[in-house]
Amino acid sequence: MNKLLVSLVLTLGFAASAHAAEGNAEAGQGKVAVCGACHGADGNSPAPNFPKLAGQGERYLLKQLTDIKEGNRNVVEMTGLLTDLDEQDLADIAAYFSSQTQTMGAADPALAERGEAIFRGGDLDTGLPACTGCHSPTGKGNPPAGFPHLAGQHATYTAKQLTDFREGNRTNDGDAAIMRTIASRLSNKDIAAVASYIEGLR
Ligand code: HEC
Ligand code: HEC
Repeated sequence: MNKLLVSLVLTLGFAASAHAAEGNAEAGQGKVAVCGACHGADGNSPAPNFPKLAGQGERYLLKQLTDIKEGNRNVVEMTGLLTDLDEQDLADIAAYFSSQTQTMGAADPALAERGEAIFRGGDLDTGLPACTGCHSPTGKGNPPAGFPHLAGQHATYTAKQLTDFREGNRTNDGDAAIMRTIASRLSNKDIAAVASYIEGLR
């Protein structure tokens, strides 16, 4: 009986997630006025500490919005902004930003060589895996898997995320703590290098 209940709950759980809200980009456009001040109306934020959202994977965006809303990822600048948005609103918003075209960035040539070595090869000495395995050789991520697009993102933002993962200030990378483990193997210098290289990736 207990086993039956467990499998029933599991089945229902999967059924529910299979029917998760489908995002509608057009509807989303009408729900993002307040976001534009920091992220840009089309999701291309002009400020280096505010992430670009344009062209980001829909699944990743929806997960972040849910995590931020539920307090599993702390973004003080967004306090209260998601409170009145339901699951459908968040899905629509994710679909909208995902459908926008991201603007390109540029790397600091002085950092690019070290940054590229880390991104493409990791570091055997510290057991650091290459970033390409999950974020793809072009940095476009793996949208169906929820692995974020990194290419073209502001280096200031990327470096802060890697530091936050390393210091335990961002902990929403799942029970396997993939990004916390990876970031624990990165020095400040290597974070600066790989973040700059990523900004120039296209
Ligand atoms: C006052 C500025 C501000 C406003 C307004 C704002 N955000 Fe943010 N948002 C931020 C900052 C800053 C971060 C990154 C925080 C950090 O460093 O982790 C962020 C992070 C995010 C992320 C995570 C991006 C990623 O790559 O992981 C998403 C998604 C997001 N915001 C969506 C929204 C949406 C949707 C709205 C409107 C409902 C909004 N934001 C309004 C400042 C803002
Ligand atoms: C085994 C897979 C895997 C590898 C390898 C990996 N990542 Fe990630 N990364 C992820 C996942 C999954 C997330 C999303 C976590 C979440 O849902 O919040 C992520 C998130 C990130 C973010 C946050 C993006 C944002 O918009 O906030 C950055 C930055 C990042 N990774 C950089 C790197 C770098 C740099 C490397 C190589 C040194 C790397 N990752 C290697 C899986 C990986």
